[in-house]
Amino acid sequence: MSELNNIALKILNNGKGILAADESTGTMTKRLDSVKVPSTPQNRLLFREILFSASSMSECIGGVILYDETIKQETSKKENIPELISKMGSIPGIKVDTGAKNLAGSPNEKITEGLDGLRERLKEYHKLGAKFTKWRGVYSISKNYPSKLCVHSNAHALARYSALVQECEMVPIVEPEVLMDGEHSAKDCYEKTSEVIKKCFEELILHKVDLKGIILKPNMIITGNKSKDKISNEEIAKLTLQCLKNAVPSEVPGIAFLSGGQSEIEATENLNLINKHNNTNFIMSYSYGRALQQSALKYWSKNIQNIEGTQKVFNHRAKMNTLAAKGKWSKELEI
Ligand code: G3H
Repeated sequence: MSELNNIALKILNNGKGILAADESTGTMTKRLDSVKVPSTPQNRLLFREILFSASSMSECIGGVILYDETIKQETSKKENIPELISKMGSIPGIKVDTGAKNLAGSPNEKITEGLDGLRERLKEYHKLGAKFTKWRGVYSISKNYPSKLCVHSNAHALARYSALVQECEMVPIVEPEVLMDGEHSAKDCYEKTSEVIKKCFEELILHKVDLKGIILKPNMIITGNKSKDKISNEEIAKLTLQCLKNAVPSEVPGIAFLSGGQSEIEATENLNLINKHNNTNFIMSYSYGRALQQSALKYWSKNIQNIEGTQKVFNHRAKMNTLAAKGKWSKELEI
């Protein structure tokens, strides 16, 4: 087994999943503003340090995706953050893209940037303790979108990023996110997600990326958030499985879904059904940001010194998702 495959499996084995705590300062500021906590570097660190020292880190969270600011911060006990995460039994990772910008040639769409100087940044992150990385491409669905240009250019960037990451001995998380925003049907989401993922693998293969040493982070197949035709959770699970079975090469060891705006319970319920029906050889787990942190953030904002209470809320969500990653979650377990 290659070392990269080993890292990917360690992150996702036994129902473990990923805590996506890689919100950029802008996004984290929005999250903190929403609960009326000032977005200072100290407060951003305080909340994240509380999560990273919670007991579920060893039982449920196989990896944590960090943001550039956090990976360079020190905890209250003067440890660096990757050290804390490793000590808790999890694996530190880092978001390395520099964000989605307007795509020249199709300015209503986005292309993710960050390839310039990436090789050097990767070496620095690796030295700081990162064992895996994340890069997110975004695609919206509407009548003429995503365009071929958007599908192609984001796949190309994801593949160039992945090749550089593996060269630096880390596991790339490949995240092509077809956004939930819009009026589109589940059929549209299925078709566009298939097209986007297939193109990504075409480019990954062209760039000689070792598919056994990546983790795919896709969206689930869901109707647009403004669509009138909602589908059931069972249908979401079945369509998601069918789409991934057809579009993802069998070498890929694991798939870790993003939550993408689903509520905490929805994201857990859908993951649980996906695992109940999983007829593939892929590990199907989670790499959630909002769906793991929302309740904990709300709770914490009421008293930012309440470490134990906040950890309890976070531990519960992490446990529920780990049960879902084994297909063993049920509504009655929610409190
Ligand atoms: O790139 C997106 C994040 O890593 C996952 O965030 O679960 O809130 O969509 P989300």
